[in-house]
Amino acid sequence: STKILSLNTGAQIPQIGLGTWQSKENDAYKAVLTALKDGYRHIDTAAIYRNEDQVGQAIKDSGVPREEIFVTTKLWCTQHHEPEVALDQSLKRLGLDYVDLYLMHWPARLDPAYIKNEDILSVPTKKDGSRAVDITNWNFIKTWELMQELPKTGKTKAVGVSNFSINNLKDLLASQGNKLTPAANQVEIHPLLPQDELINFCKSKGIVVEAYSPLGSTDAPLLKEPIILEIAKKNNVQPGHVVISWHVQRGYVVLPKSVNPDRIKTNRKIFTLSTEDFEAINNISKEKGEKRVVHPNWSPFEVFK
Ligand code: A2P
Repeated sequence: STKILSLNTGAQIPQIGLGTWQSKENDAYKAVLTALKDGYRHIDTAAIYRNEDQVGQAIKDSGVPREEIFVTTKLWCTQHHEPEVALDQSLKRLGLDYVDLYLMHWPARLDPAYIKNEDILSVPTKKDGSRAVDITNWNFIKTWELMQELPKTGKTKAVGVSNFSINNLKDLLASQGNKLTPAANQVEIHPLLPQDELINFCKSKGIVVEAYSPLGSTDAPLLKEPIILEIAKKNNVQPGHVVISWHVQRGYVVLPKSVNPDRIKTNRKIFTLSTEDFEAINNISKEKGEKRVVHPNWSPFEVFK
């Protein structure tokens, strides 16, 4: 069964949760329902995934008591100035009274005046072609000052961040108005981007790390890595299992996304890697170099500094 980790609020968080980015409408509904019936108790969504209503409906239809499920959603970049309004809107779509964790999706605000149809994967630009990341009039410190008031409202049990670098976290923790240490930092992690330094930094500050795109996202080349295939064959499991087990063994939260019922179920069934196999996976990025696969277009932005 899935191990439980603790947040700095004292709340418990199941180590494996279902990711829902790119799970659309009915697929998201079915995936969440399948997962909850199978025993998952942790679901991760976001306002920008545009599936909060289906996720919420599946939670309701599952019959699983609300208090047994850990639900995370995220503040989109166009609403950094109004996180409580955004959270209210998310709760309404989810049909829930509260979420367990509310994350700042990115450490960058997008100018709400210019963004209509946000495409999460493209570099956000204004009509004249200039960048829409609004770093002159706003920064994430201000967003955090507003977000840290949210747990008091009861609308979220905890607040955290996502896509924060070590420098971003240092700035946040050192800021004058900071009262709360983020409960979590959700970032891209997989064997091609192991993020050891960031993980150690978060650990030292009591911030739980959560891995998104733990399999390297859609059509992951990672699942075709010879080493991964070899370890899978040797242990008589699928390559996806090898990678999820590697994450779990590293001790943080892992959020594999799937809409396929078989993969949803098996993704929770991890096994223990031998020290040798564990090290072999650690060596992949050392040999091949690190690779950000999910948001290559965002890397030129200040957000990854
Ligand atoms: P699908 O939803 O059809 O299962 P990530 O979590 O890194 O974003 O990866 C998700 C991608 O990997 C999705 O395309 C998902 O497709 C696929 N996937 C999920 N679980 C597995 C698995 N155990 N083995 C192979 N591919 C998987």
